[in-house]
Amino acid sequence: MFNIVLFGPPGAGKGTQAAKMAAEYNLTHLSTGDILREEMKRNSPLGQQVKALIDGGELVPDATVIKLIGEKLKSAHNTDGFIFDGFPRTVEQAKALDEMLAGQNLEIASMITLEVEENELVARLMLRGESSGRADDSNIEVIKNRIKVYNQQTAPVAEYYRQQQKHAAVSNMGTIDQTFALIAAEIQRINS
Ligand code: C5P
Ligand code: MG
Repeated sequence: MFNIVLFGPPGAGKGTQAAKMAAEYNLTHLSTGDILREEMKRNSPLGQQVKALIDGGELVPDATVIKLIGEKLKSAHNTDGFIFDGFPRTVEQAKALDEMLAGQNLEIASMITLEVEENELVARLMLRGESSGRADDSNIEVIKNRIKVYNQQTAPVAEYYRQQQKHAAVSNMGTIDQTFALIAAEIQRINS
């Protein structure tokens, strides 16, 4: 099993690259954001509970997302591992993920951070908002808040994996294919 965390600020391109990685390496793509948006679309109790937080660019409580991911980890998957996209978003979530994986004799092989300059993130998110219809992509104040929340609460997660010697970073200022090539080289290095 090969489990990897794809990390980076909002708008860094995690979803796009994770989908390509899932196809190339036969991994199960777990996007917490996609799961939560699906719950919102279905207007489920969980969806109702998290809507205001997500629309405002705030984080859903650790216990809620940890439980959600825990359920996904327990269900059967016929792939060679997981790619985590948008999770863990706090050090608390990273610790919980390590524990949940250890319970199944699994571990994170590496975290790869996608690096994009901040002004480029804002531009990409505003552009994405025009087609995605995501409330949190369409409002400049919410976008700025998401980047602030990332810098304050999420960025420390990179240090958590760095301490375990499981952290790498690649630029995503280039094209989708260029970035994917950088990720592929990193995965080859991890697996060699
Ligand atoms: O990962 P993505 O940007 O799609 O997540 C969208 C939103 O979902 C985040 O801005 C946040 O409000 C919420 N989220 C969260 N905790 C996570 C993942 C997503 O609060 N671990
Ligand atoms: Mg995403």
